[in-house]
Formats: sequence, structure tokens, C-alpha cells
Amino acid sequence: MRRTFAVSTARLRIMMEAFRGEMRRGLNGKPSSLRMLPAYVDRPTGRERGTFLALDLGGTNVRVLQVDLPGDGRLPVCAEDRFVLSRDKVTADGSVLFGALARFIGRFLRERRLSGRLPLGFTFSFPLRQASIAGGELIAWTKGWTAEGVVGRDVAALLNRALAAERISGVRVVSLNNDTTGTLMARAYLDPDCDAGCILGTGTNICYRERTSEIRKPVGPHGRDHMIINMESGNFNAVLPRNRFDVLLDRSSANPGLQAEEKMVSGKYLGELARMAVVELCGRGRLFGGRLPEIFSRREAFGSERLSEIEKDDSASADGVREFLWDWGARPAAAGDARLLRDVVRAVSGRAARLAAATLGATVTKNDPALEAKHSIAVDGSVFHKYPGFKARMEETLRELFGGRGGRIALAPMRDGSGLGAAVIAAVAAESAKTGGKKPGAGW
Ligand code: BGC
Repeated sequence: MRRTFAVSTARLRIMMEAFRGEMRRGLNGKPSSLRMLPAYVDRPTGRERGTFLALDLGGTNVRVLQVDLPGDGRLPVCAEDRFVLSRDKVTADGSVLFGALARFIGRFLRERRLSGRLPLGFTFSFPLRQASIAGGELIAWTKGWTAEGVVGRDVAALLNRALAAERISGVRVVSLNNDTTGTLMARAYLDPDCDAGCILGTGTNICYRERTSEIRKPVGPHGRDHMIINMESGNFNAVLPRNRFDVLLDRSSANPGLQAEEKMVSGKYLGELARMAVVELCGRGRLFGGRLPEIFSRREAFGSERLSEIEKDDSASADGVREFLWDWGARPAAAGDARLLRDVVRAVSGRAARLAAATLGATVTKNDPALEAKHSIAVDGSVFHKYPGFKARMEETLRELFGGRGGRIALAPMRDGSGLGAAVIAAVAAESAKTGGKKPGAGW
């Protein structure tokens, strides 16, 4: 299995070259697996100030925040509440989803006794085609979401309509952004070296700062010399080292043919890849004496959190892994089985970390091939923060690819940045409305 999931340095280099090629093609409006979506916002100055609401829709965990931006180098102050969307809300009709979001906002306002006019920045963690900072259409659902009637619609308008239906008249969406952009903006508010954002969680994606002169495809009016570009890098599919498990996983997914890199790297899929490898080894009689434990027998039953648990045990005996298997209801496992299982898991997560590092390396070296400058990449997501050794393996891969200069790419952990970032973007939108004489969220 180690060989099945191995990716050589040479292969990573070829992949990086292909990635930069796809970046250029996407910016030029040519067919590309990287969508290269302009976000109509540049890095903040750090002087943005005021009170804003933010809605952070990342997964089934939704956050509503009230953010005070001081604008003078001090840390922003955030108050937040978390809500959980039940599974039926993300797979039923879109009106059910947006109705629930509006009610969460209503509850937040009531509980905090907030009233008056509150501009809201909306983080929407899916591919968005924007023509301005104020709104954008959902291109396609990812990460298993399927709510109907939302693809092709302006999600900021859908939320504004749902707020109106709930008679929440003081709140209006003034800006819309992807979670990678939110993460970059949150970090960049206090860190001027931050020029990219990355999510390594249930899904994965990268955004970065680009000169607008490099964007040759038609874009809406923006008046900026730099913009953040949401690459939708999870959809990257050129020269990826896919194996038989990747092909099988894709076929049985909710979006076959899409998000190829995401399906090799992100938390939604790592457990399933490992499970499929276990099933194969067991079928060949090489694991668990050919008798598959229940936990591996159902699709998606073996989640990525379980992989983290397994990798937490790095003892030679793998006794911890045997205990976990026992806790998860498997028959007592032999030490050899526990070790082989851990090897499978390490192979799957190791490949993910290497691919994630290579795509970040490719992103940064498009405009700085010799890594002359320092680049700080704001990174958020459960895989990055919680998976044992994931960050270290990414850093090791960056050194392998760029030698000592790999250290110029700093992976800066940014927890829950996309909510704060949405507020920073709302502030930028408010600023440019003042200076450009245009009201954000027309008609409010
Ligand atoms: C979505 C991206 C998002 C990423 C991380 C992907 O599935 O397409 O828009 O940034 O997940 O949440």
C-alpha cells in the first residue's frame, strides 16, 4: 500500500509545473481545472474599522459573529455563536437552508439585543462566480451538499430574501466571500506578508493575491491593481498520481469527475480511501485474517478523525491502535494487523500532506519562482490543525522541493479566520462604497 500511495519528488515537481500552467490558463479564460475566480477584494490595510456582522457557512457548523474592527493594529474583538445545520437542511430545498440561516441570525440578534443597521459579510465555502464584492452565483455544490435550487443563483440575494422573510430588516449582506479569502483577509488584517489562504478541512482550496494585469479573462469593474483569486484548487486534476482507490471513490461520490485533488487531500475523503485499502488487503487475506471488522464494512463509516486517532499512536507495538480497534467494536487484533493498518493510514495521510504542500508551493512560485520574498499562508481547517504531524509533513515537503528557501513559505495557523475575514471584507466593501460613492448592497 505504501507504494500505491507514494508520490516521488520528481512527480511533485511535474505536478507543480502543471498547476502553474492551469493557473495561467484559468486567468486567461482558457479551459482549466482551476477556476481562478476573482474575489473583488484586495488585502486589507489594517485600518478598516467599525462593527460588522458575519455569517460563516463552512460546513454543517454555522457561526454568526459580531466583530469590532479597531483599525489601529489591535486585535479585533469577536463575539460568536455556533449553530448546527441538520443534514436534511443541506440536502433539501435551498429555501429550507437559507430560511434556517436567517433564523440563526435572528436568534443571535435577539440573544445579544442587537438592533439598528448592521452590515453583514457572508462567508460561503463553495465555488462562487462573482462580478462584484456584493454577491455571486454558486457554480456547483461540493463536499456532498446538494440543496436544490441554489446552483446558478446569487447566494447573497438568497440570504437577503430569507432575512426579509423573517422580518429581519436591520441586517443586510454587503459582501460575499469564499472561506479561503476570509482566512487570508483575517490574517492579512494584522500580517502584511500574508498573500495566500488555504483550507485543509472537510474540503480543500487555496486563494492568493494576484496582479489584476495578469487576469486576461473578462472581469467586472474593480478599480484595483491586485485582487484575491479563489482558485478552487480542490478541483485541480492535471497529472495527479491517482490510483485505483481514487478512481473508485470518485465514482461513488456525489460529484463524480469533479474535485479530484480534494478527494485525495481533504478530511471528507481520507477515511474512505483508507477504508477501501483495508477492504482490499483483508480480501487478499493479508489483514485481520481475512475477516473484515464491521467498522470497515460500510461506505464512509471510517471517518478521518479515526485516522488521526490511529496516527496518535507511534509506539513500536501499536498497542494504542489495538485498543482503538477494540473500542470501535472490532475483535481483538494482532499486533501485526494494527501495525499494517497504521501503515495504510500513514500512506494515505502522507500523500495528502505532500500534495497539499506541492499545490501551495506551486501557488507561491507562480509569481515568485526563486522565492525571493517571504510568504505567509493563512491555513485553517481540521486536517491542518488536528491531524497529527500533518503540518510538519507539509513543511518537510516544502524543504524537499525548495531546499532552504522552502522556509520562506510560512504555514501560518489561522483558526476560525473565515468569520473574522468576512467582517474585514464587509469593512473593505463599506470603505470602497464611501470612496467610490456607491452604496454596498444597493437599495438598503
Ligand atoms: C469548496 C471551496 C472551499 C473548500 C474548503 C471546497 O469543497 O469548493 O469553495 O473553499 O471546500 O471549505
